[in-house]
Amino acid sequence: MKRVLITGASSGIGHQLALDYAADGWQVTACGRDAQRLATLTARHPGIDLCLFDMTDLADTQAALEGRTAELVILCAGSCEYLDNGVVEAAKVQRVMQTNFIGPVNCLEVLLPQMAAGSRVALVGSTAGLVPLPRAEAYGASKAALAYFARSLAQDLQWRQIGISLVLPGFVDTPLTRRNDFAMPMMITVSRASKYIRRGLARGRAEIAFPRLFAFILQVTSRLPQRLQRRLTQRMTRSS
Ligand SMILES: NC(=O)c1ccc[n+]([C@@H]2O[C@H](COP(=O)([O-])OP(=O)(O)OC[C@H]3O[C@@H](n4cnc5c(N)ncnc54)[C@H](OP(=O)(O)O)[C@@H]3O)[C@@H](O)[C@H]2O)c1
Repeated sequence: MKRVLITGASSGIGHQLALDYAADGWQVTACGRDAQRLATLTARHPGIDLCLFDMTDLADTQAALEGRTAELVILCAGSCEYLDNGVVEAAKVQRVMQTNFIGPVNCLEVLLPQMAAGSRVALVGSTAGLVPLPRAEAYGASKAALAYFARSLAQDLQWRQIGISLVLPGFVDTPLTRRNDFAMPMMITVSRASKYIRRGLARGRAEIAFPRLFAFILQVTSRLPQRLQRRLTQRMTRSS
């Protein structure tokens, strides 16, 4: 039986991935901090193995993940906080960087030495890392950092035959986006997001960006002059 370890499995995209992989017959290790929400997974699939830890804490991450291995690791956990009116709050930026960048790095330190040739790690970034969006200084920077890290690591792990996939979702309807107070174009359901991710990973894709049209628009936008990028992104994220 193939094994998959998923962080952020207590909510949103990670939760749906855990349900879908379990339904497909995979042995799932579902990670998160909220025991109650994680338990809803085992209520549906009793075979799912639960793993509770705070990935921003290296010692906690080591204790939880040491000895665990899987052919597929999906580092999906993340959080989003916005800056308001250009006021830079260092504590907020640190929190976001800790969760979205240092958290996955902590997991990789423990998991990579335990993984065999032929296995794969997916790092869940965001299309927000492609283009500077208003108020997303911390979130976008954390995801851009993760994308750079993933692309660089992919080169250095070739000799071990461990594949790295960078997942770049657009807007997905989850508790994370339900807090947003602006229009979110081309938003998709967690089921569709899970389908895109699972299909991309099954094909061994290095980058999985979706929904395709939204990702394409942002990729093209990222090549435009800053002035045009700003005009487009401000229109896109205007308050609803
Ligand atoms: N939703 C979107 O539109 C969207 C778009 C682009 C990228 N993404 C990315 O996709 C990923 C999943 O997002 P989502 O929308 O599914 O969010 P979500 O519903 O808020 O779920 C976030 C998950 O991350 C876990 N988590 C957060 N901080 C953690 C920590 N310190 N240690 C361990 N686990 C932690 C949470 O676990 P607990 O609740 O158990 O603490 C939860 O399971 C994130 O990386 C997000 O940035 C989402």
